[in-house]
Amino acid sequence: WARHAPYVIAINRLKAKRGAVILAHNYMTPDIYHGIADVVGDSLQLAIEATKVEAGVIVQCGVHFMAETSKVLSPSKTVLMPDMGAGCSLADAITPAGIAEMRAMYPGAPVVSYVNTTAAVKAASDICCTSANAAQIVRAMPGDTVIMTPDKYLAQNVAKQVPEKRIVWWDGACIVHERFTAQDLREFREFQPDTTIIAHPECPPDVVTEADFSGSTAGIIDFVTQNQPSKALLVTECSMASNIADAHPQVEFVGPCNMCPYMKMITLEKVLWSLHTMTTPVEVDPELIAPARAAVERMIEISR
Ligand code: 13P
Ligand code: SF4
Repeated sequence: WARHAPYVIAINRLKAKRGAVILAHNYMTPDIYHGIADVVGDSLQLAIEATKVEAGVIVQCGVHFMAETSKVLSPSKTVLMPDMGAGCSLADAITPAGIAEMRAMYPGAPVVSYVNTTAAVKAASDICCTSANAAQIVRAMPGDTVIMTPDKYLAQNVAKQVPEKRIVWWDGACIVHERFTAQDLREFREFQPDTTIIAHPECPPDVVTEADFSGSTAGIIDFVTQNQPSKALLVTECSMASNIADAHPQVEFVGPCNMCPYMKMITLEKVLWSLHTMTTPVEVDPELIAPARAAVERMIEISR
């Protein structure tokens, strides 16, 4: 903390001067999560918060698609990204042409796109979902067949929860969660049988099957809070355990975990620079704002 303190103090001062609010994803490092964030949460919570922000400036401590979602929901605000290079393998996996391809293959089927997509893909979709509400959104869709993009693993995990629908998917994956294997978890259980295993639904379905619980990052925090396991393995991004360890001193968090190289591009130094120079404002093509917002708002409406 001694190293971080000058940045935390300077950012919090500048944040007040600029009338800015910092929205931070659960995968931010603890210095950001505990030191400077005004709101922390999973993708759904951050999207909902973006609809309520009164401040004129939002600093998005997360990845680019999250900043775009905030801009789409609050187009009159200045939404700053501390590093425009903070992307996402899922958002990179699909374009509007891919959505059109899926629509041509499955005529009439609704398109549910993960919130981890560009504004252009959201605009081409019928509705968004997050890992917190994917099954609920798919159940609410009309017809037998539902197209889910771009995360094949989230789609396969939802297919198990919603057997009444035929779910077809795009071939995208999260580079952080696709690296976990069921074999690793089985070996881990043999070695440490008293561990509660909690996996994010972006993991392959056989990994989720091995776990005791699967949920969004906020769902994982709620599960730990309510169940207080003596030992927990969070099969997700590494900062999750670091961020909640202090609040649960009686829970022993054990590895392994994987780092998201994109999330880790956001640092205190870059946030300070971002607030100092008011860079880089995220812009969304004005023609995309209304249709992308409609897809996100439909999702928020169903999740209430
Ligand atoms: P959630 O926080 O919505 O579970 O998403 C995880 C993620 O990978 C965000 O990039
Ligand atoms: Fe994208 Fe995966 Fe990183 Fe989340 S953890 S931002 S889904 S690459």
